[in-house]
Amino acid sequence: MTEIVELATADQVPLGTVKRFEVNDFAIAIVHTDEGFFAIEDRCSHADVALSEGELEGCLIECWLHGSAFDVRTGAPQSLPAITPVATFPVSVDELGAISITI
Ligand code: FES
Repeated sequence: MTEIVELATADQVPLGTVKRFEVNDFAIAIVHTDEGFFAIEDRCSHADVALSEGELEGCLIECWLHGSAFDVRTGAPQSLPAITPVATFPVSVDELGAISITI
């Protein structure tokens, strides 16, 4: 069953930043890039660390622990050592700037 969850307003996640949210004990990172807002699982697929604590460059977020970069649009790792994608979630932003994800 899918659920739509409102997490934030757009001004809480300025362009070029990442913010972590907890949804049902699941960590989600909202990422604001030049291409818009994206939502990814906030847990590196290589080990249990938060991707939201890494560096964001364009649509790539680099894990702070071993340096794998994940494409926030697809969740796919672009560099080793991670080889498994992280989950992504559809994001919508309404006319008032409320950011919601579908989980
Ligand atoms: S924990 Fe993220 S690349 Fe190793």
